[in-house]
Amino acid sequence: MTDRSENRPIPRAGVIGWPVAHSRSPVIHGHWLARYGLQGRYDRIAVDPAEAEAFFAGFRDSGLAGANVTVPYKEAAAKACDVLDPLAEALGAVNTLWIEDGRLNGTNTDVTGFLANLDAEAPGWDAGGGAAVVLGAGGAARAVVYGLAARGFAPVHVVNRTRARAEAVAALAKGRDGHSVGRAHGFDELPQLLARARVLVNTTSLGMAGSGPLDVDLSPLPHDALVTDIVYVPLETPLLAAARLRGNPVAGGLGMLLHQAAPGFARWFGVFPEVDEALYEAVIATLPPEAGRR
Ligand code: ATR
Repeated sequence: MTDRSENRPIPRAGVIGWPVAHSRSPVIHGHWLARYGLQGRYDRIAVDPAEAEAFFAGFRDSGLAGANVTVPYKEAAAKACDVLDPLAEALGAVNTLWIEDGRLNGTNTDVTGFLANLDAEAPGWDAGGGAAVVLGAGGAARAVVYGLAARGFAPVHVVNRTRARAEAVAALAKGRDGHSVGRAHGFDELPQLLARARVLVNTTSLGMAGSGPLDVDLSPLPHDALVTDIVYVPLETPLLAAARLRGNPVAGGLGMLLHQAAPGFARWFGVFPEVDEALYEAVIATLPPEAGRR
């Protein structure tokens, strides 16, 4: 497909996953393409696991300008890249691909998405650093822990049901001078960790509509500690509601999804897009009723 007025190919990108029907990324990028009046396409690209290796190997010749990568392919995408930036290298996972000089490049914008959301929702949240507590040790926790350590939080406590996974994720927390600031814990240690926390992040699926409840007693947590959740259905999780009720600053999880999309859009379509209220409204309109309202 070409843009006849300039005779340039219309850039095409998409989100690669399996399954991928649930992805909100086409809504986000479609909103920005319309808002900035840009020629471009952004599609869902379902890749069968049996074909994934060949798909990534052939990506350079696919005609795509780049792509987002979601579950279960973030590690496979990292392995397929010719060039990884330090973030993607450290995490071993890529969520954003682009072609540059014929080479497949990858980065991980989950880290910058997590941080940019907090910068927007709670300006100054990282001033002074201090201890951070992260609940969960899955893929999202890896980006969160890396980002908190990069912003100077120390120690970064990773609290998880399965201890070995907590240890693997805690190992990603490196201070600015390169030394380890990550610590692994079980949920039994949470009360004393909360007592000194400056930031509390839930990265488990608990508290999501349809999952079990996240059973955390916030009473030891200082009232000025920031509480955030990567779950966004509901938009205000029970954890965030409890934190807000006792006066803590809070930030919802939907912003991380919106902010992680921006660097890819800039690479493929040439404009660094804004995460504004209209984007929130466009994406919220596609969420199920149990998401509630902001
Ligand atoms: P993602 O990659 O999206 O972060 P994940 O890898 O499935 O998701 O991780 C989900 C997280 O939620 C894990 O930390 C998981 O704990 P385990 O490592 O012990 O499995 C946590 N989690 C899910 N259900 C849980 C439950 N019922 N109780 C405690 N933790 C739970």
